[in-house]
Order: sequence, then C-alpha cells, then structure tokens
Amino acid sequence: MIDPGLVLAWGVPRMRDLPWRRERDPWTILVAEVMLQQTQVDRVIPKWEAFLDALPSPAECADASLGDVLRLWQGLGYPRRAKHLHATAVQVAASNDGCLPDSLDELVALPGIGPYTARAVLAFAFERDVAVVDTNIARILARSGGERLTSKGAQLAADALVPEGEGWTWNQVIMDLGALVCRPTPMCAECPISASCRWY
Ligand code: ADE
Repeated sequence: MIDPGLVLAWGVPRMRDLPWRRERDPWTILVAEVMLQQTQVDRVIPKWEAFLDALPSPAECADASLGDVLRLWQGLGYPRRAKHLHATAVQVAASNDGCLPDSLDELVALPGIGPYTARAVLAFAFERDVAVVDTNIARILARSGGERLTSKGAQLAADALVPEGEGWTWNQVIMDLGALVCRPTPMCAECPISASCRWY
C-alpha cells in the first residue's frame, strides 16, 4: 500500500517547475494536457505557449478556422487532437458561455476528452480531489501493489490515495515520481516508497 505522505514529502520539495503548473485557467490546462498525451514535455512547452498566445480562450479557438488550429499544432503530431480541441471549443462557445464545465460527466462528453483528460482538468484547473491515471501512474500502482490492474482497478486504487484537499499537489507529485523515478527502467534507490513496493 502506498503511503501518500511519503510521496508528498519526497515530491513537494523537488516538484518540477513546469509552466502549466503556474496556471489554473481550464482552457490553458486542457491545451497542455492534450498536448502532453503524446508529446514530451520539452517539445510541448514552446508549442503550448504559441498556441495560447494565438488562441487564449475557447471563444477565440472557436472563431479560428480548423486550418489555423492545425497550423498551430504543426510539429506536435497526431493532428486529430487539434481537431478535437477545436470541436470542443466550438461546443463550449455555443452552449456553455465559452467556459469549460467542471464536472466529470460534462467533460467526458466533449470531443476528444476521455477519463484521463477530464480528471486532469478537474485536478489541475479546478483543484478537485480526483485521481489522474496516466500510463506512468498506472505503472506505479501496478508495481507497488504487485499485480496487473485493469483500467477500472487502477482508477479505484488511485482514487483511494488522494489526500483530502491536496488533489492538485498529489497528482503533480505522483506524475513526477512516474516520470523521474518509477520509469520503465526504475531507479528504485531514489524511490520514497520502495519499502512497501511489491515489485521492488
Ligand atoms: N503530463 C501530463 N500532465 C502533466 C503535468 N501536469 N505535469 C507534467 N507532466 C504531465
């Protein structure tokens, strides 16, 4: 069983200073999370900045042509993500006052927004106590528990760990653990929870 306190004590002092971590605007966070799904952090940063300079809100993105949005996406790959982002902007501009919704059900109903992205927006923009599960976090959970997990099982295990009132910090820190320590080839000597890890 993971002790969240050990993960926070390890992670908070060394939390990576990434530009989207200074932001709470839901659109700004959504754009970052969609870009980060298939693209590395270093390559995302300049593209994320340029995209939001040009299209700082859903309304502006909805008014832009799909061609403009795809041009801003160039270099990131998987352009279907940009198409979905544009469709989401059009939808919230038309029906939700240009604001992204703040519930899981409404977020997953938007084009291209799945359970991961929806929870990332809830945790990182709205600071809700939800658990974000990406492949890195699923790997931590499976290794520490010593068993394969279905996506439902991983979500349930992750939900149980979020310290109350600390959803934002918790999710950022466990992402850092997955990105920096519990990598495909793990660096267990640096891991704050190796003592309770079945895989270790
Ligand atoms: N990958 C996806 N979301 C991230 C975040 N908020 N910080 C770092 N890497 C991420």
